[in-house]
Amino acid sequence: MAEARSDSIYLLQLTDCHLMPQPGQLFRHIDVDLQLAQVVDHLVANGQPIDHLLLTGDLVHHGGADAYLRLLDILAPLPGERHWIPGNHDEIDAMRAATSMPCGQEEVDLGYWRLLLLDSTSHPDGRGSGSLSEEELRWLQQRLAQSPERPVLIALHHNPLSTASDWQDQIMLANTAAFTELVQSAPQVKAVICGHLHQAQSRRIGQAQFWCSPSTSVQFRPAQADFLLETEGPDARPGYRWYRLDADGGIESGLERVGPVAQGSELG
Ligand SMILES: [Fe+2]
Repeated sequence: MAEARSDSIYLLQLTDCHLMPQPGQLFRHIDVDLQLAQVVDHLVANGQPIDHLLLTGDLVHHGGADAYLRLLDILAPLPGERHWIPGNHDEIDAMRAATSMPCGQEEVDLGYWRLLLLDSTSHPDGRGSGSLSEEELRWLQQRLAQSPERPVLIALHHNPLSTASDWQDQIMLANTAAFTELVQSAPQVKAVICGHLHQAQSRRIGQAQFWCSPSTSVQFRPAQADFLLETEGPDARPGYRWYRLDADGGIESGLERVGPVAQGSELG
């Protein structure tokens, strides 16, 4: 955990929880409800400061409003204002039916900072890819033109950068060129964060940091031609990212892994 600063804002990112429609159902042999609860326990035990809790998609694996309410119930011990954006496995109507929390495109005032949340699930290709709509790109451009002196953090589900995994590059953000052009033209964008990859990433998009958090469910092994789960070692463990947003525009992120993996057996 980073040095605590009283005038900084702490944001916690949890992503790709993939809760199944019914409690006790396994996702790729993992009890993902239990793993998420273990992540919550870890955060509470460590006293992680959390001003804002950001959930970056694939929160539920094609479940209804009940599954989203179960997700929020598991997260209940955590402090912080809640925000969520959809991933390719989410049902936006079910998210909206579960709570009145905004879902998708949203600007959040973080004091010195602005958080811009994007819905990257437009124009799905049926295999996992998604796009930012033309309307959303215009909205982003307009938001970036406002208050150019205030630092900005952008969050979306799909990764806008390609990776060393062919199968994952086929389902990344489809219209990434338009998005990265906007990011690179706006020096106040300090960081872009995403989920979707089920693996940790720390890179750059021009002047901005780019971070991806591991999933709270299963992890995907990096640099693979075809889909492969990470099943061994510390990188197989569920994880999360925290971000410390400083008043001077600085940002720091840390990655934590929680374990062990909660192998389950199907309930009868
Ligand atoms: Fe996912």
